[in-house]
Amino acid sequence: MDKFYVTTPIYYVNSTPHIGHAYTMIAADVLARYHRLKGQEVFFLTGTDEHGAKVAQSAQEANQDPQAFTDEMSARFEEAWDALNISHNLFYRTTSDQHKKGVLKFIQILKDQGDIYEDKYVGLYCVGCEKFITEKELVNGQCPDHKIEPEKITEKNYFFKLDKYLNKVKNKIERDEINILPASAKKEVLGLFQQKLENFSISREKVKWGIKIPFDESQVFYVWVEALQNYITALGFAGEEKNFKKYWPVDLHLIGKDILKFHAIYWPALLLAAGLKLPQNIYVHGFFTIDGQKMSKSVGNVIDPNDLVKKFGSDGARYLILAQFPFGADGDIKAEKFEEQYIAELANNLGNLVSRVVKLAQGIKKQKTYNKELKAKIEESWNKYQNEMEKFRIDSALGVVKSLINYLNKHIDETKPWELRKKNQQDFEITMQGLTECLRHIAWMIYPYLPETADKILKQLGVLEDEKAMKFKELTKWKLLDMFQIKTGEILFPKNT
Ligand code: ME8
Ligand code: MG
Repeated sequence: MDKFYVTTPIYYVNSTPHIGHAYTMIAADVLARYHRLKGQEVFFLTGTDEHGAKVAQSAQEANQDPQAFTDEMSARFEEAWDALNISHNLFYRTTSDQHKKGVLKFIQILKDQGDIYEDKYVGLYCVGCEKFITEKELVNGQCPDHKIEPEKITEKNYFFKLDKYLNKVKNKIERDEINILPASAKKEVLGLFQQKLENFSISREKVKWGIKIPFDESQVFYVWVEALQNYITALGFAGEEKNFKKYWPVDLHLIGKDILKFHAIYWPALLLAAGLKLPQNIYVHGFFTIDGQKMSKSVGNVIDPNDLVKKFGSDGARYLILAQFPFGADGDIKAEKFEEQYIAELANNLGNLVSRVVKLAQGIKKQKTYNKELKAKIEESWNKYQNEMEKFRIDSALGVVKSLINYLNKHIDETKPWELRKKNQQDFEITMQGLTECLRHIAWMIYPYLPETADKILKQLGVLEDEKAMKFKELTKWKLLDMFQIKTGEILFPKNT
């Protein structure tokens, strides 16, 4: 069956969404939309991670009951994704009954086969990271990421026999059966196997906000262990299994580099223990900094994606968040450059191309011939574009579209259709026949990135309804439009932002 299951991390609800979260969302959305366009059955999952010490602490600081707090915060994420036109199939919450049911089923399997044992945990825990850390990782006695002293913990915990599965996980990664991308991330993961990876605790004794361990109700699940399971419980791992049967194993876990170890080592080990299939691909992207600094509430440099939507529209915000640096690398953002980039890359480049071609072509006669060079360029662009998309290289696929736009703007500057019109109407029409068809292809190539803009282009070309009903194979084929249907419309990227 031709399906594509893509997930994002589920975000902690201790704070509101920022452009780091939005980056993962838009990237996943581009891939989901591309695979739907190809006619695949897509399931795109996202949601919120609502249990654990960190969220409980934030609820307490806000003087709220944790459930009421998470209800409110989770809604903020959902609203932000709606504003960005994210096309997820399900927004999933770990405080749902469905999740709890799935987690209990999963743990029972591991318990029954003897992969869970009781032991004492003595060590350090960083609430900011929601993870156990070692002395070695500390800088001046503090967690280097959160600049807080970890808690010293001595408690009875349940542990998972990770050591039983480590070799197998490593082999699968080496052989790309779990394909970790980009190559630098795979290398990093393989490096982690050099250190000693301890069996990990799956429960917490002193934390109250969580799912109770069924065989010892005095403890709750360690938040990471239950959070990872969202990827299967959301599909109905326990209960209605239709989606689980259809979509598992996952085609792509898209994550940031901060949570690589959990996804590339712990999660596959848990799945192996439960006898379930493993993720096919894990794509790891880099981190935003703002003017060279980590984005954080205390620094006060957090960029809210809603503000970008208000200023640049949904497509403008999507573009500006996505187009900052190569997919997979880290990058620094200068917020004051957003406006410049919006004008240069969207208004002046794509916006201008569309308005030039539509203005010239509107209402003219259809011709049976066209410039063969343009057709070849489109075919070559589709090939490259698809090649990159299949490898999840959404930045390179966008690069193909950008260079096509540049090529066409240059082609127009050189052929000067407005002068042709004065000399020879038929030559002019032939030129426009090719150019309008190129615009149609650009609309479809840009669609996964800028869905509203794509619709506006197709509408101006007079083919929106027809095209929406077509299959990918037909969309990507070269054909000729009836230019008398073409009509100028609203400006794609207004400059008075
Ligand atoms: O880790 N740049 O949630 P989280 C780019 N609940 N991406 C960023 C970013 C930045 N500066 N900051 C965050 C958790 N992200 C767990 C996940 S999954 C089963 C549980 C994005 O709220 C990036 O995708 O800390 C990163 O992996 C994720 O948000 C972490 O979100
Ligand atoms: Mg985090």
